[in-house]
Amino acid sequence: MALSSGLGTVLTFFLFFCVFEASDALPQKFFNVMNYGAVADGKTDNSQAFLKAWKYACEYGGRSRVLIPPTTFLLGSVTFQGPCKGSMAFLIKGTLKAPTDSSKFFINTWIGFRYLNDLTVKGGGSLDGQGSAAWGYNDCAQNSQCPPLPTTLRFDFVNNSRVHHLRSINSKNSHFSIFACNNMNISHVKIMAPSNSPNTDGIHIGSSRNIQISRSTIGTGDDCIAMIAGSQNIDIFDVFCGPGHGISIGSLGRDHENDYVQGIHIRNCTFAGTENGVRIKTWSPSLKSLASDMRFEDIFMKNASNPIVIDQEYCPRAPCIPEARTNSLLR
Ligand SMILES: *[C@@H]1O[C@H](CO)[C@@H](O)[C@H](O)[C@H]1NC(C)=O
Ligand SMILES: *[C@@H]1O[C@H](CO)[C@@H](O)[C@H](O)[C@H]1NC(C)=O
Ligand SMILES: *[C@@H]1O[C@H](CO)[C@@H](O)[C@H](O)[C@H]1NC(C)=O
Ligand SMILES: *[C@@H]1O[C@H](CO)[C@@H](O)[C@H](O)[C@H]1NC(C)=O
Repeated sequence: MALSSGLGTVLTFFLFFCVFEASDALPQKFFNVMNYGAVADGKTDNSQAFLKAWKYACEYGGRSRVLIPPTTFLLGSVTFQGPCKGSMAFLIKGTLKAPTDSSKFFINTWIGFRYLNDLTVKGGGSLDGQGSAAWGYNDCAQNSQCPPLPTTLRFDFVNNSRVHHLRSINSKNSHFSIFACNNMNISHVKIMAPSNSPNTDGIHIGSSRNIQISRSTIGTGDDCIAMIAGSQNIDIFDVFCGPGHGISIGSLGRDHENDYVQGIHIRNCTFAGTENGVRIKTWSPSLKSLASDMRFEDIFMKNASNPIVIDQEYCPRAPCIPEARTNSLLR
């Protein structure tokens, strides 16, 4: 009797673990950054506390939720890496502020996510890149010898992810960068920077496929959305762009042979007070490149200076001939 009931218990436990292993059904668990040493005074750098919360969340096998409560945190340059054992959510309820000093960022990133599968970033909070001091280096936009400025939110090698209900303001460089990602949905984001802030692209996509951007408002000093080489199957709808330089494909053909952009669908988007509307550009002179299968539907232009631009001699800063560039670097 005692033996059979003992065996029953063992069997029950065994089944219990089998089920959890197989279905990834461990309960959702919150990892509040406050429990890992975060200080919400807006002055203390919380990089270590955030990374520690991420580490424990990443090692948990179930649905991990890193929680940033609704208050203001200063956060230095951090990259949250996978692979993780279960699905990850990053819930930003408060405001994260970047350091103003541009020299303190690693790999041109303020907040990075990389090598992840099944990531959600959401929460209704804000990312404040505190870019205005960095934009002061106006010459940097013209001068390749300046240190590159950090992107606010960078996704590299991330699959099956979602970003929604998030605000990004005053990034030092691009707001969001998506590189080598597959299957990402971005919706209900609000991205803002002044119309005269240099290089503050809203969403910059390269080497990525199956990306959907919808129900969002983007107003910046550069492209609202830019798709460069390797962007494939990008679906953009219900996006309001303005101010900014519009939605751009390219420029292609500057550094690599066979740059391509393929399968772009842009529908029901509004451009208001923008320098351009929709734009396709290849570099001058251009290496062999391809942009194909592009559809633009129900595009509304309100006071867009150049509603449709197809530029096969893209030359942002004349003169573009190689000799002249060399000369200007020697100056
Ligand atoms: C993302 O998907 C690609 C295949 O599309 C795969 O090679 C890569 O390992 C995946 N990355 C992660 C972090 O799961
Ligand atoms: C993105 O949204 C589409 C529906 O519009 C859905 O089929 C797809 O699974 C979503 N992807 C992710 C990663 O949530
Ligand atoms: C077009 O986008 C706007 C938001 O910019 C939205 O309110 C509207 O419902 C969309 N229209 C259709 C037909 O989806
Ligand atoms: C048109 O857009 C420009 C910026 O491109 C802005 O300065 C101007 O005020 C806008 N005019 C109207 C009537 O909205």
